[in-house]
Amino acid sequence: MKSHAITDNFQDANVDALAIAVFKDEKPGGGILKELDKLTGGLVASTIKGEEFKGEAGETLLLRFSPKGKNSAGSLLLVGVGDKLDYKTSGVAKVSGTATRVLRKINVKSFALMPRCDSEPNMEVAACAMQGVITSQFELDKYKTSDKNAKSIDSFVLFVEGAKSGDLKDGLERGEIIGESMNFTRDLANEPANILHPTEMANRAQKMAKEVGLKCEILDEKQMEKLGMGSLMSVSYGSEQPAKLIVLRYEPKKSTAKKGELLAIVGKGITFDTGGISIKPAEGMDAMKYDMSGGASVIGTMRAVGLLKPSVPVLGVVAAVENMPDGKATRPGDVVTAMNGKTIEILNTDAEGRLVLADAVAYAEGEGATRIVDMATLTGAVIIALGDLNTAILGNDQELIDEIIECGKEAGENFWQLPIGAEYSKRIKSDIADIKNIGPARKAGTIIGAVFIQEFVKEAKWVHLDIAGTAWADAEKPHHSKGPTAVAVRTLIKLIEKSQ
Ligand code: BES
Ligand code: ZN
Ligand code: ZN
Repeated sequence: MKSHAITDNFQDANVDALAIAVFKDEKPGGGILKELDKLTGGLVASTIKGEEFKGEAGETLLLRFSPKGKNSAGSLLLVGVGDKLDYKTSGVAKVSGTATRVLRKINVKSFALMPRCDSEPNMEVAACAMQGVITSQFELDKYKTSDKNAKSIDSFVLFVEGAKSGDLKDGLERGEIIGESMNFTRDLANEPANILHPTEMANRAQKMAKEVGLKCEILDEKQMEKLGMGSLMSVSYGSEQPAKLIVLRYEPKKSTAKKGELLAIVGKGITFDTGGISIKPAEGMDAMKYDMSGGASVIGTMRAVGLLKPSVPVLGVVAAVENMPDGKATRPGDVVTAMNGKTIEILNTDAEGRLVLADAVAYAEGEGATRIVDMATLTGAVIIALGDLNTAILGNDQELIDEIIECGKEAGENFWQLPIGAEYSKRIKSDIADIKNIGPARKAGTIIGAVFIQEFVKEAKWVHLDIAGTAWADAEKPHHSKGPTAVAVRTLIKLIEKSQ
C-alpha cells in the first residue's frame, strides 16, 4: 500500500478524492472548511447549514464537484467525528477507516485525509490514520469464489498542516505495521477449524517469525508430557490433532530493560471448542472456531514487535489445542497434575481454556517472565457482564492493571476491572484434589476463571484479559467489517513500548 504525507497545501495531493474530519455542530465559517467550501463551489456550507450533515461520529456525506487547478479530486467526503472534546488520537483510526470503507465502494483508489486531530505527537496521529486505512479493508470473504470485495484503496495521502513530514512518514510506516499485524491476527481468528488446527497455527506462527526476525520454538506433545503439562494435555486427549505450544521470542540487540525483567504475553489457542465430553449445544457452536483469539492476538502482537523493534525483550506463548470428545477424551471427574505439581479435578471439560493456560502461564514464568499478561476467550459470563464493549481485566498487581487500562485508553480499547481475592479462590477448592476447574454454578464465572489461572503464577506480576465478548464483532461498523477484532493488540504494543 502506497502512502505519503503532505504538510502545507492539501491541493498538492494528486488523488481521486479528499476526506475531512468534521466535528459535531461545527460551523463552516473559517479555516480549512472555508477553503474546501470555495473549492466545492459552496457545497460544504450549504450541506452543513441545511443540516444534511451534522458531524455525528460515524456519519459521512459525499460531495461531488468539478476538479480545479492542480488537484484532480472531484469528490469530498465529510466524515463526522462527534464531539471535538472527545476526539483523541485513536479516533483518527475510526475517521480514516470510515473514509476508506465509503470511498473504496465508489471505486476511489487514492484519497487524501485531513484528520484535524490536535493531539500530539503527530507521529501517533499518522500511525492511527494509516492503521485505520488498513484494518478497515479486512473482509470475511477469504473463502468466497464470487462476490468478493475486490475494491481497495491503493494509495493514501495524509495531510497535517504544519507537521514535520518526517514525523508523519515514520507514523505512516508504524501504522502500516500495526494495521497489518492486526489483520494477521484477524485472519487467524477467522480461519475455520478444519484449516487452522494447532499444527497449522504453529506453522503460521513459525513462518511469520522467520519473516520478521523472531525466534520461534514449537513444543510437541512429547515435550509437553516431559515437562509435566498434564493440565494442558488433558484437553488434547480427545482430539486427533496434536497440541502445540508456540513459543515466540523477541530479543532486542541492545536491551534497556532492567536486568532480569521479562514481559510475557500468553494466549488461549483453542482452535475449536466443542466442550469435550461436557459437550456444548449445537446452536452457535460454529462460533467456537474463534476460541483461539487470545493466541491470535499474541501472534499478531509479536509480529508487530518483530517489526517495530522496541528495546525490551518480549516472550509470546500460545497453547494451541483442540477440545474434542472421543474415546480418549478427559471425563468429568478425572484428576490431572499440572506442570507446577498442583492436582486438578476436572469437573467440566468445557472449562478447558483455564486448563491450557495453567501450564502455559507456568511455562512462561519458568522461562523467566516477571510480568505476564494472558488473553483468553475464557467465559460466556464475561459477555453477560460486559457485552462487547469492555474486556474484563483481573490480576494480582494493581499497578500493571492500571497501566494496561491506561494504554487501552490511548489505543481506543476499553478494559473494565473485576476483583479477585482469597474468598473467590476458596470456591475452587476440590474435595479430592488441590483445586477443581469450576466454581459454583453461574456465580462470578469470569472471576472464577481468573483465580484458577492465578494458581499457576508463582511470583510474577500477572494480568488476565477475558476477551470472549470483545474478540468478535457481531455487526459491521462504519470503520470495520464484522468478525474478528484483533482485540488488545494495539494496547499491548503500547504497553511494550512504554516499558522501554
Ligand atoms: N470458550 C468458552 C467461553 C465462551 C463461551 C466464549 C461462549 C464465547 C461464548 C469456554 O471454554 C467455556 O466454555 N467456558 C464455560 C465455562 C464453564 C463451563 C465454567 C462457560 O463460560 O460456559
Ligand atoms: Zn469451553
Ligand atoms: Zn473455550
